Amino acid sequence: MWMDNEFLLGEMQQVEIQLKKALKTRNKTVQDAMTMLQQSGGKRLRPMLTILGGTFGDYVSRDIVPLAASLEIIHMATLIHDDIIDDTKTRRGSETLHSMLGRDVAVYTGDFLFTRAFLLISDIAEVKLMKDVSKAMAYICEGEIDQNEQRYSKGTTVKQYLKRISGKTAALFAISLAAGGYKSGCSKKMMNKLGVIGKDIGMAFQIIDDILDFTGSESSIGKPAFNDVIQGVYTLPVIFALNSKYKAETEEALDQIQNDGGKSLRIILEKAEVIEKTRGIALKYVEKARIKTLELPDTVGKEIILKIIDQQVNRKF
Ligand code: IPE
Ligand code: IPE
Ligand code: MG
Ligand code: MG
Repeated sequence: MWMDNEFLLGEMQQVEIQLKKALKTRNKTVQDAMTMLQQSGGKRLRPMLTILGGTFGDYVSRDIVPLAASLEIIHMATLIHDDIIDDTKTRRGSETLHSMLGRDVAVYTGDFLFTRAFLLISDIAEVKLMKDVSKAMAYICEGEIDQNEQRYSKGTTVKQYLKRISGKTAALFAISLAAGGYKSGCSKKMMNKLGVIGKDIGMAFQIIDDILDFTGSESSIGKPAFNDVIQGVYTLPVIFALNSKYKAETEEALDQIQNDGGKSLRIILEKAEVIEKTRGIALKYVEKARIKTLELPDTVGKEIILKIIDQQVNRKF
């Protein structure tokens, strides 16, 4: 595991301290919710990328750590709002905030987290970074809105799918890595490179997440499995099946989903071998990210980014 790297481990411990400090409010209900959220873990991939991005310039911990924490806070806020919209009951192995405290408290808590993230960033960042982070947040919203509009649409194309995941997920990965580079004084060229690598990692990450929704179990992924398709979110495996010779059968299975819990869809996805095909697309992004990372100067960050990239293909949660 990359987490046994002493430098990263030390910096991530600082991020946890920073998170704890930033997630404070006088309202007890929201405070309890945020403490629970922070303690429930999560992979912390986005702040890790910020730290790793910082190794390509002059790494200054007191700048990079708050920035890394702010990107994790933005991520947490998007998860809270996403879970309300998807009506998901579990996240990170625990009950979701909205199912515990109600949708209204969850909406406010998400908004509260955004303000905390911006306060943190404004302590250390220039206007340019604020702008880039704001843009990434706008892409996330646009991606989520696109996904919402495409719900239950059997005509969703691969291109539409890739565009929406590039917004809802890859944009935050891109800014997480690039912001680390920016804050450590990297050149514009280097920042752009880091952004592209982050984006490709994010694309692979979301495609794998979408596969895990079909192949994982609630205990392994910490959130309900088979939830996307039930909520009408048709991801790559389903889109591929709808564009195969099993089109008619897939359509019928999708219409049956509320009755049979997805039993017939599972059979078709297997027959159409679309999970393997989808994994192939994720692999392409992994390869792209790897090739570009190999071109980076040798730093401890580079080594760990390569490990993170390799780990994506076989991750189970
Ligand atoms: C979940 O992100 C949302 C997606 C982009 C798929 P993560 O899988 O990184 O969530 P945590 O932070 O580890 O819980
Ligand atoms: C990621 O997509 C959502 C965000 C960008 C907030 P998902 O809807 O697939 O995430 P999970 O599966 O609920 O974690
Ligand atoms: Mg979701
Ligand atoms: Mg998902």
